[in-house]
Amino acid sequence: MSIEVVFVCLGNICRSPSAEAVMVSLVEQAGLSDKIHCDSAGTSGHHDGETADPRSIAHGKKRNYDLTSISRKFLGKKDFERFDYIVVMDDQNLKDVLQQDVDKSYRGKVFRMVDFSSSKKHNKVPDPYYTGADGFEVVLDILEDACRGLLSQIRKEHGL
Ligand code: 4NP
Repeated sequence: MSIEVVFVCLGNICRSPSAEAVMVSLVEQAGLSDKIHCDSAGTSGHHDGETADPRSIAHGKKRNYDLTSISRKFLGKKDFERFDYIVVMDDQNLKDVLQQDVDKSYRGKVFRMVDFSSSKKHNKVPDPYYTGADGFEVVLDILEDACRGLLSQIRKEHGL
């Protein structure tokens, strides 16, 4: 059985699809695609069924990332059960996800993306939706660093 990772943001069209693509690429490079599986979801459900934001796709593509996800809502109990690592982009996502953990059974599976970063310079992956091109580059910069940290933690925890 593979290790299941889901990245969660608000809309599941900008940050979490980018995180998923960055992580998939790192996992592939590490030769661990059969052991670590990545997904993404949003807390809002407002963009259900949509592909990622064209700006996220374009900025990702410049760095050779392939954003293939289709937006879906985070499913509460079903996703808490299914995933081993639930990785949120900001503190509002954290709040919205934890609110669905009514019995507080899954707190240990929920992580903040920035807590895996090497610099600890950022306290969130900032929402780029209303920003210019720079915002999308900042998101990728933070994600590339933090996904490396996440992969290294997963490898350590699972002896990979
Ligand atoms: P994301 O960005 O949470 O990184 O996918 C957003 C996408 C859409 C909206 C906000 C943030 N929105 O308000 O529609």
